[in-house]
Amino acid sequence: SGSEPVTVAIDGPAGSGKSSVSKEVARRLGYGYLDTGAAYRALAWHVLEHGADTSDAVAVLEASGDFEYAISLDPDEYWVRVGARDVTDAIREPRISEAVSGVARVPVVRETVNGIFRGLVADSGRPGVIVEGRDITTVVAPDAPVRILLTAAPEVRAARRSAELTSHDAAAVAAALHKRDASDSKVVDFLTAAPGVTVVDSTDLDFTQTVDAVLDVVRAGTGDQ
Ligand code: DC
Repeated sequence: SGSEPVTVAIDGPAGSGKSSVSKEVARRLGYGYLDTGAAYRALAWHVLEHGADTSDAVAVLEASGDFEYAISLDPDEYWVRVGARDVTDAIREPRISEAVSGVARVPVVRETVNGIFRGLVADSGRPGVIVEGRDITTVVAPDAPVRILLTAAPEVRAARRSAELTSHDAAAVAAALHKRDASDSKVVDFLTAAPGVTVVDSTDLDFTQTVDAVLDVVRAGTGDQ
């Protein structure tokens, strides 16, 4: 009811298929797509651009003072900008993946970024937005009508990651994923479903089956056919 867009909150670990599945669900529903991890990555990029150390909370806070961030909510035309710079590809570099946990660990940073997310959803101009991240179901949008935890077995997640990153060997990818899970889970518990959150386990599902499973949960939650 009203003009507030429907928020679909999706949390999950790296390699769960979260981003590609969320984008496709947004396309199917004509919803916006918000990748919240991209904001933390963009801030990590910005901090490194300042020559600051992402493991130093004070340096992160200082660098975040002039952080101007813009992101597309269009699943078909996805981009991320910091100031005038397009950082869509740069924020996927391994140096960012390694640095980003340090940035995401700073509580004031999380509060600021969460405010930006809520504003982006409210002003999306779309009937709904798929918001994807680690703390969307619990902190950013705990009252969302649809809240999903998308999971997959660790070995399946590692296999999916190494298929994406053709230049890496499987053992190295599994080790990097494990390391990132460990540091990410110190910030947010994204492996346990909070009360009322629906778990979609994609371990034995292919991409299309996962999209369909998520769409089923969305339809049930929004009362659509
Ligand atoms: O999903 P991703 O790999 O792009 O996330 C990048 C980093 O940001 C990762 O270390 C976890 C963190 N993150 C977070 O703390 N909270 C979110 N809502 C989304 C991402």
